[in-house]
Amino acid sequence: MNKLILNTIQTIYKRRNPNSHKGTHGHALIISGSETKMGAAIICSKACLRSGVGLLTVFVPEKEKNSIFVSIPEAMIVLRENQVDFNKYDSIAIGPGIGITKDSEALLEKIITNYSNPIVFDADAITLLSENKDLLNKIPKKSIFTPHIKEFDRLFGVKNSVEERIETTKQKAKELDCVIVLKSHQTIITDGKQVVQNTTGNSGLAKGGSGDALTGMITSFLAQGYEPFHAAQLGVFIHGLAADLTLEQQSEESMLITDVIENFGLAFKKIQ
Ligand code: APR
Ligand code: MG
Repeated sequence: MNKLILNTIQTIYKRRNPNSHKGTHGHALIISGSETKMGAAIICSKACLRSGVGLLTVFVPEKEKNSIFVSIPEAMIVLRENQVDFNKYDSIAIGPGIGITKDSEALLEKIITNYSNPIVFDADAITLLSENKDLLNKIPKKSIFTPHIKEFDRLFGVKNSVEERIETTKQKAKELDCVIVLKSHQTIITDGKQVVQNTTGNSGLAKGGSGDALTGMITSFLAQGYEPFHAAQLGVFIHGLAADLTLEQQSEESMLITDVIENFGLAFKKIQ
């Protein structure tokens, strides 16, 4: 298995064109948050914006819209209660904090059956898909899954060893024609052909919210036109690198994911 290192990332990363405008960098839709989980939506959205997307819309329940307006003035909002044309977005992420409910499942089905580009599935969306295999088999090609180990086992069956889990990751990515990011202290990324293991990050990331930031970042890269396997590799590497650079001001104990997001810029500078 290849290690994901700076040299590889530098071949994937594309510099921004000085003549670009917001349309050049894509429009992402983040479907995240519910009454008690708006933090997930805020973290995911901030990470998406701090990773270069041109426009961001956040899809939230009406009652919760002010939390986004107040914390992220750069974001636009669509309300969960309204009709939405999903195909106008260059990338879509669904899952962090949406809640494991019938309502969320119906929303997930609507997006899977209406959206033709790759979708980023995380957190509650993964749990819902693990209970609805018919829907899992309908996902758009080249979609990205970002499960942690428990979510992975829920989706694809419990594995007894790391080796077995890595083999299943590759096999399922091939079967579903998707990219799988199996998150841990040594995250694995595969498109079903190649498997790479990340080399950045530290235990300061072992806190609620870190995964939500990764989802926002990968969704940002997808909107900017990176192909899914590249978007996933860039996201995982830079997310971990930003956490490593945060150790210059914080310890692994004190680090918050919001500190890490503030340091995405330092991480981008290291790979440029
Ligand atoms: N070293 C390096 N990276 C780490 C480490 C570590 N020791 N621990 C965690 N990480 C990274 C992972 O690789 C991943 O990118 O932090 C991120 C954690 O992501 P998640 O496990 O998805 O955590 P998060 O979603 O932020 O919080 C927990 O998941 O189980 C659900 O519903 C639960 O809301 C909760 C959420
Ligand atoms: Mg998570």
